[in-house]
Amino acid sequence: MRRYLPLALILVLPFSSALAQDKKIEKKVDSVLKLMTLDEKIGQLNQYTGDRDATGPITNNPNKLKDIRDGKLGSMLNVRGAKETREVQEVAMQSRMKIPLIFGLDVIHGYRVTFPIPLAEAASWDLEAMENGARVAARETAASGVHWTFAPMVDIARDPRWGRVMEGAGEDTYLGSKIAFARVKGFQGKGLGNLDAIMACAKHFAAYGAAIAGRDYNAVDMSEHTLWETYLPPFKAAVDAGAATFMNSFNTLNGIPATGSSYLQRDILKGQWKYTGFVVSDWGSIGEMIAHGYAKDKAEAAELAIKAGSDMDMESRSYLPGLAKLVADKKVSVSLIDDAVRRILRKKFELGLFDDPYRFSNEARQEKELNAPENRKAALSMAEKSIVLLKNENQILPLSKSLKKIAVIGPLGKSEKDMQGFWSIAWENDKLVSLYEGLKNKVGDKTELLYAKGCEISDSSKTGFAEAVQVAKQADVIVMAVGETLDMSGEAKSRANIHIPGVQEDLIKAIQATGKPVVVLVMAGRPLIFNWTADHVPAIMYTWWLGSEAGNAMANVLFGDYNPGGKLPMTFPRDEGQIPLYYNYLSTGRPAKNDKDTRYRSAYLDMPNSPKFAFGYGLSYTTFDYSGLTLSKTQITANDKISVSFTLKNTGKYAGEEVVQLYLQDKFASVVRPVKELKDFQKVMLKAGESKTINFTIDKEKLSFYNQQLKWVAEAGDFKLMIGTASNDIKLEKDFTLVN
Ligand code: NOJ
Repeated sequence: MRRYLPLALILVLPFSSALAQDKKIEKKVDSVLKLMTLDEKIGQLNQYTGDRDATGPITNNPNKLKDIRDGKLGSMLNVRGAKETREVQEVAMQSRMKIPLIFGLDVIHGYRVTFPIPLAEAASWDLEAMENGARVAARETAASGVHWTFAPMVDIARDPRWGRVMEGAGEDTYLGSKIAFARVKGFQGKGLGNLDAIMACAKHFAAYGAAIAGRDYNAVDMSEHTLWETYLPPFKAAVDAGAATFMNSFNTLNGIPATGSSYLQRDILKGQWKYTGFVVSDWGSIGEMIAHGYAKDKAEAAELAIKAGSDMDMESRSYLPGLAKLVADKKVSVSLIDDAVRRILRKKFELGLFDDPYRFSNEARQEKELNAPENRKAALSMAEKSIVLLKNENQILPLSKSLKKIAVIGPLGKSEKDMQGFWSIAWENDKLVSLYEGLKNKVGDKTELLYAKGCEISDSSKTGFAEAVQVAKQADVIVMAVGETLDMSGEAKSRANIHIPGVQEDLIKAIQATGKPVVVLVMAGRPLIFNWTADHVPAIMYTWWLGSEAGNAMANVLFGDYNPGGKLPMTFPRDEGQIPLYYNYLSTGRPAKNDKDTRYRSAYLDMPNSPKFAFGYGLSYTTFDYSGLTLSKTQITANDKISVSFTLKNTGKYAGEEVVQLYLQDKFASVVRPVKELKDFQKVMLKAGESKTINFTIDKEKLSFYNQQLKWVAEAGDFKLMIGTASNDIKLEKDFTLVN
């Protein structure tokens, strides 16, 4: 006779078996902890780099190897490859306790196959694709003996001068939280312990993206309200997705270094959010509390950091040797250290490293996984999705496949290296496709490809212009490749001037003056300023840094084999003077009605308030029509929901994807609200001529915000619902009311 489990039991089973698993691991952790000396415990909290220092690979460094053998190390970063990780792990197995090391690495946008930079991927608004991108990176990373990536960076960033905007998901909290969740899921797959899952690390906790004046490592000063409402939610999303680790940050937050902040790490993360993973410091950030003027020496820095909840010391050499003396002097309790060690050992058990410390260091698997064709396919697809079409006057794009001659002009036209972006790790081994090569792959011998560099990226010389103009004159269409080199956006790559560097815009002017059709591709790690180009050149695509398959992706989009659907995840200013500029700013008492309305208004006398390109903006080769907005109710209580629907029609000639964006404005509230906030979106594919009914639901969660007491509440009152194709291009709107 078949037996069926009661439904209640079925629902409870996975949860209770997870609990049982947790309990089992806790027992194992306790059993190991019991056997450890204080020095060995402190060793677990210590992390060294493997190869990015003067001594070369770790395997050449007798001092580090001795420390591993002596049980003074819990983890290493920058050790990678099945062979090298195995060799180093073998040394850890010679230590008294034989506790395996965790190997961590900055796998930010791909391991061997390079994916578009995270900001570019965010422009796809395609959560599934981003999760898959992280999955591919995890598979390659895990097969190379590495257990842990220092990603995703989930810092909200409203200042494009900050070079690290390239590493995050842009300026919006809602979009950023969804992406944070997707990326953590992608890295961790079906869960730690699987051979294709690596630990994610949500960073930089917290508010690092708000460095004053966009200068990296700079102080952050913000209201509690902004912290909770804008900067913390993506971190919470990472916790909800099960992120195994967190990294704290270099910055001070309201006068306290994040690394030494118990408010952030103990009260919020480990307290309120009940986080059971561990926190690693940022590189040297514990020691940097001395330079901050917060700790007088490394011993005090160690004391402040461990008490604040920083579990692992990345490369500041403060915990070792500092903590042992702090314990002897009774300044730090052993229970505090035990808690940190427990968190780290837990992950080592979850990864299965106690069962087999070499389980990830498998050369055969590495060989099979790295650069696998399906990984490159995923990178190509992600690159296509990441491109944002900014302008396409007179449908100059897509290009016809029967063109006789195309000229590729500009300093990035043949560049392979720069396509990688700042955080790529596989430099030597990755096969990168330049724009020129991508076009060649596409047109074969049917079309002649001409080329001229014109200038270097940061040149002040225009000597190459004449040749470039000569080449341009021979072509039917000119595709220009301008922007930044890969080291112009990234860590420590802040720039006060974010105009397209050097004389590149002058080169565009010179080529445009030939009267030939010009398409400009901007390749960069941040929003750049290029007003003349935006106003005069008929077609512009923002391609960011697209990774291994960059050139093929650009060629597919240029020729219409892929219809672009990306939307900007960050506002593009007209001028640095407008920064910080973001779409969801707070209402003011004297709002300007339009860009010319300056008299005693919140406005500039010399420049419009509006951006050059707004958050959420991006074109397609087709067009979409929005109509028929209906709300199931226009008055609800907090327990009710509103069903929102409207019709989206593809009115153009091509099949294409549209990101429909739902914004809300809470018109009157106990805390002044933004003029609009993204609260939902969908990416919809429609064939030419096709229509679809799009549905959204408005519930209490979407209407809630942090009140003055920092409580998450939905207040009764009037709301405006806006459906748009961009934050500044709202197609449909209706009001509704929340009543008590
Ligand atoms: C410093 C960076 O801020 C952090 O994001 C990175 O993970 C570490 N260095 C390790 O490379």
